[in-house]
Amino acid sequence: MSKRWYNEHRRDPWRRKAKSSGYRSRSAYKLLQCQEKFNLIREGDTVLDVGCHPGGWSQVSVELTGETGRVIAIDLRPCEPIPGVELMVGDITEESTQRLILEMLQRKPIHAIVSDISPRLTGQYEMDQAISVDLVCMVMDFAIPLLNDGGSFITKVFQGRGIEAIVRAAKIRFSKVQRFSPVASRNSSSEVYLVCKNRLPANKIDGDEISIRMAVEKELADQGFIINSEDEEVNDSGPIGFSVHRAK
Ligand SMILES: C[S@@+](CC[C@H](N)C(=O)[O-])C[C@H]1O[C@@H](n2cnc3c(N)ncnc32)[C@H](O)[C@@H]1O
Repeated sequence: MSKRWYNEHRRDPWRRKAKSSGYRSRSAYKLLQCQEKFNLIREGDTVLDVGCHPGGWSQVSVELTGETGRVIAIDLRPCEPIPGVELMVGDITEESTQRLILEMLQRKPIHAIVSDISPRLTGQYEMDQAISVDLVCMVMDFAIPLLNDGGSFITKVFQGRGIEAIVRAAKIRFSKVQRFSPVASRNSSSEVYLVCKNRLPANKIDGDEISIRMAVEKELADQGFIINSEDEEVNDSGPIGFSVHRAK
């Protein structure tokens, strides 16, 4: 552990605030700040928290949805129990996990999806960013169809290639789409939150039927980037989807 990391860690006001308020992560403040600006979660809502470990966003979601709400949360890593949260361990990109979520919902819609999903970092930004974009696309393709009309979706994504295509795909499905950097995201951070409000009814969606993942791959390919889908491999942070290279 470097001295610089230790000093930054110790000075981080959000970490200290989280500790004194009983939140399990400083990230809890990122969701609180998004909530303050966009009012994504309401009392009585059903919320799906994707990439929930150690549980800060789930704690905030339970506070906001209250006793009449429901919070289902999923991560590759098990969380300590959180009162009021239905915690699942699994990979959100896997069909078996998706089936379990569908069974839990029993055809009832979700009102808000909050995703702080992040791959295990390799330290190579281009690779981490491509994996983040791929994960976000897969979460969107699975989860957005489960939202009720008017529902909200928020996800973290690493800034870089593919974001514009994700925003365009989101704008077909939601009436309001915005990028937002909460104050609790460190200044140096490369993450941004994509906030999507008011999911449009399926029959009002004006666009072709291709998945968001395919739309993003297509747009990157049109811009001259090569998508190496055959690079697919699985590590314990989930599948590494496409890697992207500039065509020679
Ligand atoms: C930044 S952390 C989330 C922090 C959390 N929002 C909080 O407030 O405590 C990102 C999480 O995404 C999870 N994750 C990454 N890939 C995933 C996948 N394919 N399925 C489920 N969770 C995944 C990681 O295990 C990690 O715990």
